[in-house]
Amino acid sequence: MTLKRFLGASALCAAIALPALADDDPAIAARQGQFKLFSHNFAVLGGMAQGRVDYDAEAAQTAADNLFHLTRVDQGRLWPEGTDSASVEGTRASPDIWDDLDDFVAKFGALQEAAETMQEVAGTGADEMRAGVGAMGQTCQACHEAYRDEAS
Ligand code: HEC
Repeated sequence: MTLKRFLGASALCAAIALPALADDDPAIAARQGQFKLFSHNFAVLGGMAQGRVDYDAEAAQTAADNLFHLTRVDQGRLWPEGTDSASVEGTRASPDIWDDLDDFVAKFGALQEAAETMQEVAGTGADEMRAGVGAMGQTCQACHEAYRDEAS
């Protein structure tokens, strides 16, 4: 066997023997895109709640409607096993997610509930909206504290 053929053969063996590396798993970019959309809409409400932007019932309602629908996107294909931060680069998803999937799903459920309330109150007045923002922000934070790694 020539050296070239030998190297070719062993590279192939190595590729087969390695565990499936998910660095480029499209699910990671997809879920990060989802979270960017959460932030993009939540920022509208947060800015009004903090008084940095004047309360605008229509804009608040649109952001809240978006958040309601965004949090209804089925999560089934966004969290494949092996796409945690201990296994692959480019994600802050803690391995603890897969160790306690029920709790992770419950925390996502809390976000969905808060988004539903937000949708009901966002257009009804600044104070009502502010309360909704506080409650919803806590659901983001609770999950990040448990399941999102610190930014590196
Ligand atoms: C059930 C858990 C959970 C909830 C609820 C949650 N997040 Fe996250 N979030 C995560 C995890 C896990 C990551 C890391 C994802 C990754 O890097 O693969 C993340 C990442 C992010 C990121 C970074 C995305 C990027 O560019 O990489 C932003 C921004 C974010 N979340 C915003 C929010 C906002 C805003 C809310 C609430 C409206 C929220 N998240 C609710 C778990 C959650």
